[in-house]
Amino acid sequence: MKTIKLNDNNDIPALGFGTWQLSGQTCIDSVETALETGYRQIDTAEMYENQKEIGQAIKKSGLNRQEIFITSKVWFTNLSYKEVIKACDKTIQELQTDYVDLYLIHWPNPEIPLKETLQAMKELKDKGQIKSIGVSNFTINHLKEALETGIKISNNQVEFHPSLNQKELKKFCDQNQIILTAYSPIAQGQDLDLKQIQEISDKYNRSASQIILNWLISKNIVAIPRSQNPYHIKDNFKTLEFDLEKDDIEKIDSLNQNNRLINPSFADFNN
Ligand SMILES: NC(=O)c1ccc[n+]([C@@H]2O[C@H](COP(=O)([O-])OP(=O)(O)OC[C@H]3O[C@@H](n4cnc5c(N)ncnc54)[C@H](OP(=O)(O)O)[C@@H]3O)[C@@H](O)[C@H]2O)c1
Repeated sequence: MKTIKLNDNNDIPALGFGTWQLSGQTCIDSVETALETGYRQIDTAEMYENQKEIGQAIKKSGLNRQEIFITSKVWFTNLSYKEVIKACDKTIQELQTDYVDLYLIHWPNPEIPLKETLQAMKELKDKGQIKSIGVSNFTINHLKEALETGIKISNNQVEFHPSLNQKELKKFCDQNQIILTAYSPIAQGQDLDLKQIQEISDKYNRSASQIILNWLISKNIVAIPRSQNPYHIKDNFKTLEFDLEKDDIEKIDSLNQNNRLINPSFADFNN
């Protein structure tokens, strides 16, 4: 499994498995299939309410805990010092583990001082309950505020796909050694039908999904596609088997339409 080095020296698998909206037995089965297929990063969150099922699937897989990278997130209403510690304890318990590899602030919350939240996360890291600290849905301004606290942020998980390629944010993250993770990496299926993606898919004889995931990973971006279909889970995993040519990467770079799919009322993207 290809990994990407984080700024705290931990390695994150470049291809992970998304689990938003997977619940119950479907979640258990899908995570089991993903682990059997070879995925070694599972992305979850307290908000997904599926951490128990993920813990069960990991246990069933028979893999050692150290072989799997788990990302989880604390919900944006739980960002006070006390709530972060409590949420992380619950996450660890539900996942039946001792630690989370990467713990993210799910969404920024201007009502709770970022320094307080990050201080709690730093203490969790010092205690070994989390291995790396990150954020999600942070804009450049949010990241600047985080950097001012002096607490190291290793990852920013944001919506990123061909029709929403966040060039400025990517540049800022590169300049500050923050690795991006692309959520909704295939735009929940929408970008699979783009004409140029279809053409490149035909040229390489690879699925449209593999082309997009490969494009992301070629930019040192972690991709976490979600699927409950075993065929798609396996198909997406094959994305690591080939390389895209520079010209084709540039063609996909030109497909941006600022097509943002996830924009809840509490989002703060205009910051
Ligand atoms: N931090 C955040 O705020 C945030 C927000 C959104 C998502 N996320 C994370 O990112 C993960 C991925 O994002 P997402 O779930 O929004 O969307 P996504 O991964 O872009 O797309 C998922 C959809 O694509 C389909 N699909 C997957 N592989 C396919 C393939 N090879 N061919 C055709 N269709 C395929 C799936 O259907 P089938 O099940 O039928 O395959 C599903 O309907 C989430 O699960 C979650 O872990 C994080």
